[in-house]
Amino acid sequence: MSTFPAAEAARRRTFAIISHPDAGKTTLTENLLLAGGAIRAAGAVRARGENRRTRSDWMKIERERGISVSASVMTFDHDGLMFNLLDTPGHEDFSEDTYRTLTAADAAVMVLDAAKGIEPQTLKLFEVCRLRDIPIVTFINKMDREAQDPIELLDEIASKLALDPAPLFWPAGSGGRFKGMLDLRTQQFLPYAKRSADNQDEGHPQPVAFKGNAVVSYLDPDEQGELEEGAMLIQEASKPFDPQAFLEGHMTPVFFGSALRHFGVDELLAGLGAYAPPPKAVAASKTGEGTHIAPGDPEVTGFVFKVQANMDPNHRDRIAFLRLCSGKFQRGMKLKVQNTGRQLSVNAPIMFFASDRELAEEAFAGDVIGIPNHGVLRVGDSLSETGLLRFAGLPNFAPEILQRVRVKDPLKAKHLKKALEGLAEEGVTQLFRPQIGSDFIVGAVGQLQFEVMADRLANEYQLEVLFEASPFAEARWLTGTAAEIEDFSNKHKTAMATDIDDQPVFLAKSAWEIGYVAERYEKVGFERTKERG
Ligand code: G4P
Repeated sequence: MSTFPAAEAARRRTFAIISHPDAGKTTLTENLLLAGGAIRAAGAVRARGENRRTRSDWMKIERERGISVSASVMTFDHDGLMFNLLDTPGHEDFSEDTYRTLTAADAAVMVLDAAKGIEPQTLKLFEVCRLRDIPIVTFINKMDREAQDPIELLDEIASKLALDPAPLFWPAGSGGRFKGMLDLRTQQFLPYAKRSADNQDEGHPQPVAFKGNAVVSYLDPDEQGELEEGAMLIQEASKPFDPQAFLEGHMTPVFFGSALRHFGVDELLAGLGAYAPPPKAVAASKTGEGTHIAPGDPEVTGFVFKVQANMDPNHRDRIAFLRLCSGKFQRGMKLKVQNTGRQLSVNAPIMFFASDRELAEEAFAGDVIGIPNHGVLRVGDSLSETGLLRFAGLPNFAPEILQRVRVKDPLKAKHLKKALEGLAEEGVTQLFRPQIGSDFIVGAVGQLQFEVMADRLANEYQLEVLFEASPFAEARWLTGTAAEIEDFSNKHKTAMATDIDDQPVFLAKSAWEIGYVAERYEKVGFERTKERG
């Protein structure tokens, strides 16, 4: 097989699954891995999850609340293609983390519960994809349960997301009357058979020609007529699937199925292989000049979109997830961090295959490798052989909740500082150090992040902490010339802080206050997001 970077990148499909909690993301992930030959039995993802969860106590929160807060990557080779599935955290408190993960994805699968359609979290995640122009494939799940009228589901996609739905299949009934679906491209009918617990491996009957004689074994004449009419109607009412419109983010191909019953999942995977884009050129800057990095460029480049600590309790190191953008990465090679100039030898890069972690001997654009390190790598870092390339940073968002944090045992104050810095480097929470006073202020997008944080501080750092209300409600990064910022800071000492990168931050009691000071200091920018890297 060719190992030219361009050819290898062209067979990568790096995607994420987005959904509202309970729509079936975990079940679909598992069944995609099954379809891709990465795992052999259903239940493995969950079992693997359980295993992983027992490793660190803070993840009890995940288990107790039935949510998934830690993202990971699963890689599998199938049908000549290399799929990288990025797992995004589902809970809304973790939207920032999700946002960052989506920066590393080239496409997204949007899972809808057929009975519920577009739910609030689907909408939020969709907006993130749209911001980043990520093409979206729709999977309407749980067809084995009573579903909404599929035409209404498509209408909802069109009206709520302003996206043209292009169904590639059309379902015959739902729930107890779900009989299968018609492939609108080939006119083949895919029969559905309910699989019971003891015939898991039998699969579904083979597709048959819709116009042929064999279909009568699966559909009675009424059902056949209904399906034919429905398919005709929808094809008249919707635009035909246009791969270009999909890649540009105007259209979504729609698949139907039941992740739980492994129906429609093979078709979804084939669709991803056929239509989801390989990695494309990425905007970057090189010593200040704008440029584009193509996947086939010889220099190895990439950016860190996530850092996770303590994945393995035996090793206290952190794993930085590096999304490669170009070149042929080889184990042992040296990469430089653009903003710090530090060089690191990547001797033990990890690829995350579904069943196991393996050392990555080589990797290409689109792949994600895990780099164990001791805090050298941060979210948003750009890595390359020359160390000169910088990808547009991953933003930090202004936190929505700010709290003061104290450690119960005052002798451990120094320890707390290190622990808080560690968590901030991972991007779990943001850390602000006020210019006046010794307390730290931590910021998060949602309340749950504080609970995760308290749990991790207790279990990983043996620190009992208290969160207290802080006088501040908003944080803004200051931009402008050094003199302007200094002038502003001197006049607002009690509201000034620095973040983990020593950037100046204005802490305000209300959004109104920000508007008020912004009017008086027109030359200073009060930014809601900060590009890192
Ligand atoms: P999430 O990751 O998006 O939160 O959803 P998850 O896959 O955990 O699925 C949520 C619930 O929906 C699970 O049931 C799961 O079995 C069920 N489910 C997922 N896909 C389908 C489908 O295609 N058909 C049907 N009928 N159900 C589906 P649960 O009872 O909450 O969990 P469990 O006890 O079955 O694990």
